[in-house]
Amino acid sequence: MGKQAEFRFSELDLDALATATGRVAIVAGLDGALGKAGRRVSRLTKGALKRLVESESFEKASEGDVITLGYPTGMEAEAVDVLKLTRTAKLDVARKAGVALAKAKGDAALTLSLGNLPRASEIIMGLALRLYTFTPHKTEDETAQGGIHILCPKPGELEAACASPLAVARGVHFTRDLVNEPANVLTTTEFANRLEALSAHGVNVKTLDEPELAKLGMHSLLSVGHGSASPSKVVVMEWMGGEKGAAPVALVGKGVVFDTGGISLKPAGGMEDMTMDMGGAGTVAGAMQALAERKAKANVVGIVGLVENMPSDRATRPGDVVTSMKGDTIEVINTDAEGRLVLCDIMWHVQEAYKPAAMVDLATLTGAIVVALGHENTGVFSNDDMLCNSFLKAAAAEGEGAWRMPMGRGYADMLKSRIADVKNVGSRPGGAVTAAEFLKRFVKEGQPWIHLDIAGTASVKAETAYAPTGATGWGVMALNRLVADNYEG
Ligand code: BES
Ligand code: MN
Ligand code: ZN
Repeated sequence: MGKQAEFRFSELDLDALATATGRVAIVAGLDGALGKAGRRVSRLTKGALKRLVESESFEKASEGDVITLGYPTGMEAEAVDVLKLTRTAKLDVARKAGVALAKAKGDAALTLSLGNLPRASEIIMGLALRLYTFTPHKTEDETAQGGIHILCPKPGELEAACASPLAVARGVHFTRDLVNEPANVLTTTEFANRLEALSAHGVNVKTLDEPELAKLGMHSLLSVGHGSASPSKVVVMEWMGGEKGAAPVALVGKGVVFDTGGISLKPAGGMEDMTMDMGGAGTVAGAMQALAERKAKANVVGIVGLVENMPSDRATRPGDVVTSMKGDTIEVINTDAEGRLVLCDIMWHVQEAYKPAAMVDLATLTGAIVVALGHENTGVFSNDDMLCNSFLKAAAAEGEGAWRMPMGRGYADMLKSRIADVKNVGSRPGGAVTAAEFLKRFVKEGQPWIHLDIAGTASVKAETAYAPTGATGWGVMALNRLVADNYEG
């Protein structure tokens, strides 16, 4: 698993600041005002800290930035990190301040004095989100992640306030671990096993195997995995923390553990990135863990389709016609447009079995959405303005980029098949939208639904606001907030 930091909370002990090892961090206001800990550090360093907060570089720094005083005299610490922040800092500024502290921290131990800042828990969440590295396949003995010692007036209260944010951060890390894992390790079977482990958090997990999927009529999903030695699986995760009998929110995830393109084989260059093609399923898994760990008072069901898209003598051919669980026949023009073939069956199943209040699907679905939005925003498609606006609001509050895309009849018409009810691809123009229109065929009348195309946001090659390079865990925080703000209590 990725490395995670330990948090410890206690009351400020001014005398301990001199002997703390690793790094010490304190907060200073925009005008350089210091609290108790800052004044003590200033005294210990014979005024060096005071000079720092009165300096031009401090004045020029933005709110949320960290300015470092290296190897301070009078202290055992290797550095003092000064966080420039006001008491009225906005949530995202506080979180990004935590991120800045995490970057300065590296593997060192950190003693962080937060006074009674109202946004203390958000700073801590930012720290937790950014303190992540994926190391299970590094054989070199790496230094352990130094712990974080938080100093504040009411440690018990702050620790309690951090319980939920830290549960969500662990959910994000679970998603990143799954998305970063190579496909020879995270096979469909291994993925299902890791999801089964969510039962330790009170999630009811059930795995459906190929014979069960065939019995349900999921021949579209099954057609994607035909070429692979790994068996296709669907995993259903129930967290029923809400009112008994209340319709759940359904989270639906594409879990293609590796996408070669199948017989419509992808080019070699960059194909290794398709190990992240289970990002939708990974995000659903992380969100379920976060909701369960913070004991959300809501009913949420997660469903993921786990398959591997491989070419072989048994693989689906371009031109094959398959029958979905809904009953619609699909002409598979391109075996590389496999995600929609997986989603359509699990979307149908979750609607039949649960009549969800809202359904949100997540998928690394199209290269076209990456062309349209880059890596800054997930493409959002919806048939319901109210649900969609609630989601966009939740994503914005969490600092996760999301941008609504259009849909419409003209796009849907591009999927007309000569011999079947629908074909699985249109032509190149509007590729992300025609993919969404394909999915919409499998959304029942009156079912509020959002489709999130996370092809550009699930895993990236440059660090993002909250994550190092690689898997981001995009969406766990937004989904958690969507549930918290609209379906709880
Ligand atoms: N998994 C890919 C989409 C993808 C592309 C994810 C880039 C992450 C980064 C998907 O299955 C796919 O291959 N889509 C095709 C669809 C096309 C054949 C209509 C694509 O986008 O090229
Ligand atoms: Mn594909
Ligand atoms: Zn794919």
